[in-house]
Amino acid sequence: MKVTVDEDRCAGHGMCLTLCPEVFEMSDDGWAVATPGELPADLESAAKDAIANCPEQAIVEIDS
Ligand code: F3S
Repeated sequence: MKVTVDEDRCAGHGMCLTLCPEVFEMSDDGWAVATPGELPADLESAAKDAIANCPEQAIVEIDS
């Protein structure tokens, strides 16, 4: 599983950082950035929680 944040959609709500801080961090510009590359399997559940709870639907799962 890989994820990315659509910077045009992200409004900086920060739910992703709360739910999955191992994968998401806030950029200096105020939107979230996801760790690139394949996520460790033990982080997939938290990453999916972040996808489901982003109010802007800004987090996208990328096909591996
Ligand atoms: Fe942005 Fe959604 Fe996270 S709006 S900061 S990707 S919860």
